[in-house]
Amino acid sequence: MKFENDFLFGAASASYQVEGAWDQDGKGPTNWDEFTKIPGKTFEGTNGDIAVDHYNRYKEDVRLMAEMGLESYRFSISWARIFPNGTGEVNQKGIDFYNNLIDECLKYGIVPFVTLYHWDLPLSLEKKGAWLNKDTVDAYVDYAVLCFKEFGDRVKNFITFNETVVFAALGYLAGAHPPGIENDAKKYFQVTHNVFYAHARALIEYKKLNQYGEIGLSHVFSPAFGIDDSEANTFAAMHANQYQFHWFFDPILRGHYPEYVVKQLEEKGLAPDWTTEELALIEQAAPLNDFMGLNYYQPQRVEKIEEAVEKRENTLENSTGAPGNPSFDNVYRTVLMEDKRYTKWNWEISPEAFVDGLEMIKENYGQIKLYITENGLGDEDPIIEGAVCDIPRINFINDHLVAVKEAIDRGVHIKGYYAWSAIDLLSWLNGYKKQYGFIYVDHKNGLERKKKASFHWFKEVIATRGENL
Ligand code: NOJ
Repeated sequence: MKFENDFLFGAASASYQVEGAWDQDGKGPTNWDEFTKIPGKTFEGTNGDIAVDHYNRYKEDVRLMAEMGLESYRFSISWARIFPNGTGEVNQKGIDFYNNLIDECLKYGIVPFVTLYHWDLPLSLEKKGAWLNKDTVDAYVDYAVLCFKEFGDRVKNFITFNETVVFAALGYLAGAHPPGIENDAKKYFQVTHNVFYAHARALIEYKKLNQYGEIGLSHVFSPAFGIDDSEANTFAAMHANQYQFHWFFDPILRGHYPEYVVKQLEEKGLAPDWTTEELALIEQAAPLNDFMGLNYYQPQRVEKIEEAVEKRENTLENSTGAPGNPSFDNVYRTVLMEDKRYTKWNWEISPEAFVDGLEMIKENYGQIKLYITENGLGDEDPIIEGAVCDIPRINFINDHLVAVKEAIDRGVHIKGYYAWSAIDLLSWLNGYKKQYGFIYVDHKNGLERKKKASFHWFKEVIATRGENL
């Protein structure tokens, strides 16, 4: 089977992870510019001041993407380049940069797929409470509208937010992302609601402009499965999916929060402060979503906590936790299993669970159009005689594209696949040790770009529309 001609083969990035130029041409500081400079927050104190200098080298990068045959490039806009203070004065040079980047993509026929918020928040808004403050929602809507007006004539695909669960959970439960707060479930849920409310408002504004493009958002997709079929662990999987799947997908696609979670949050005093007007807007916006973006890396294997025996034989303690695994209520925990495969960072490799998960989306939300907005392998790529031999990445992406095919065969409506990432980039907490790209960046040699084995392989996949996978 070949992928249809209108199925987009792409690759992705995010502003903070690639651009660098953190204070160039009038850009304002962001929460990440500040957070990464606090000692101990990131691996070896790495930060995005320079990153891979995509801001100054985008022409070379886009040319390489074109050479790879990439049909679409997903990148994010840094809000603080456009509004250095989050709101108020506009920085024309920031707008110019994104216009140039968009035009450079279009020059080669590459579809720009634009994320409006990929975690880098203008510092002035962070200082006023970030996503806990409803003023941030107003500022976001102004920023989004400006982007629609400036770029929407050429950008026909907008993603409002990237992975709400991650910046909310790591920011307010794990304390690993800004603002570094730990175990505050009340704030965590408040942030998620405020973001969904901002998403709803942005959608309504976008549709008013009649730009005839598509708008949606990207969620982490990490479906939970019990480690066995026992009643307790089946319950654990249901509970995990209510909190991490339905809590995130229902308000967007159904227009209301899952009752199971709402009831428990109300009992515990953890429900967000929400007004009837906000809830009504979320409901009104649900049918306006043109697509849902899924960032899939791995599933979660869960067990109910009372069932967990400290050192059981068939499971190992998962010390890092899956991304987007805010287990704040001690009902279940995620575990590593001996019969599964893992990356060096203990992320499970499971194209099978991807297919099952995609079916789960179809069962719950029907034929909503899906884009796989991220999928890829974080690895330390071997360099042999100067060549970057990222064979495990080729295998990973191959198997996940086969999974996408399988899901399409089963009637799941998937219209594109974006590998994470186009080019090696800064990992938020792990520096440059963990690589994802098709293009290698030599940090010891003036950030020189080099094509990896996967570059040539992906080029062939695109050229043959995946026929030989
Ligand atoms: C999800 C995020 O969107 C991206 O920024 C990150 O680098 C990758 N996952 C890998 O962790």
